[in-house]
Amino acid sequence: MNTKVIFANRDFDSAINEAARVIQGGDIVVLPTETVYGLCANALDETAVQKIFDAKGRPQDNPLIVHIADMDMLDRVTAGVPAQAKKLMKAYWPGPLSIVLQKNPAIPDTVSAGLSTVAVRMPQNEIMREVIRRAGAPLAAPSANRSGLPSPTTAQHAFEDLCGRVPLIVDGGPCNVGVESTVVEMAGDVPIILRPGGISPDMIQKVCGDVQVHPSVLDRLKEPEKVASPGMKYRHYAPRAQVYVFEGDKKTVAKDVNTRYHYYNEKPQKPVIFCTEDCAGFYAGKNVRTLGNTAAGAEKTLFAELRAADGAGIGVILFHYMDTMGLAVKNRILRAAEKTPQEVTEN
Ligand code: TXA
Ligand code: MG
Repeated sequence: MNTKVIFANRDFDSAINEAARVIQGGDIVVLPTETVYGLCANALDETAVQKIFDAKGRPQDNPLIVHIADMDMLDRVTAGVPAQAKKLMKAYWPGPLSIVLQKNPAIPDTVSAGLSTVAVRMPQNEIMREVIRRAGAPLAAPSANRSGLPSPTTAQHAFEDLCGRVPLIVDGGPCNVGVESTVVEMAGDVPIILRPGGISPDMIQKVCGDVQVHPSVLDRLKEPEKVASPGMKYRHYAPRAQVYVFEGDKKTVAKDVNTRYHYYNEKPQKPVIFCTEDCAGFYAGKNVRTLGNTAAGAEKTLFAELRAADGAGIGVILFHYMDTMGLAVKNRILRAAEKTPQEVTEN
């Protein structure tokens, strides 16, 4: 299959029309969102949705997020919206927030992986929303990477992973947020964050009065039956390089990281250190990539830096985590890592 790339900023209208035609024809398209690029199909067309799983190599039991353009579309995908969920929609839609709701029977089981619920999001990106409007259908869309790899924050990343597997990629420039949406479950009175993302726990607490973070957010991989959000049981976001995460008192961490760096620097695997700008001084003269000093900065650069490390032939990423990087980055980097800091420092 040939993969065509079109640039939305050159001719917005024809890009939207072409993407909508492919969707209506029952095929898949890569589109930008403000979080990461998505691999999209008509959420109501089971055969089209199956093409997403095939192109990504995605496990069939991991459900997809359904994207809507306007509130009018909500009734077509859900079977009711609790009051707390309505408040969150009012506050943060359009935006990087996916809300798990009872699903409308029109949503095929392939989308929800057989669950009675569906995760719904109204993205902010105007390209994505305009394609939804013109195709006249909600879009099921996971991140547009091959399963297990870091999510794509540019059209080029999506092209690297899906060239030959998808007929069309719409390039809308780099994504603003850079990590995926926050996934929040609204089953009880208190919203539970299943996956941290662009909307922080504090932002949800402000609207709902309370919030919980599911324990598996900061866990290692879990047994399948203990997983609340099926996506959590798979190794994710992982570059080819090995990732080791270090956190704690920053001087102690810097000492550990420097020791490890010297060790790997003598080996064929080339090491790189990822840290905040504030910590870069601990690693003078070494191969260092800084991710800014804020959560938003780290979110925006993380996936691109993981991919760039692979491109540069790096074997080992020594990740100096700081709390200022935020929960979403911590969750992603723990999923990308194969070992805990304890396992690294003990061996
Ligand atoms: O920002 C995003 O959310 C991007 C863009 C394209 O919108 N999409 C994305 O999709 O990250 P994906 O498929 O890579 O991640 C979806 C996550 C998975 O962890 C999945 O298990 C969870 O949402 N999820 C989907 N439906 C669910 C449901 N009904 N209940 C619980 N978790 C669900
Ligand atoms: Mg994904």
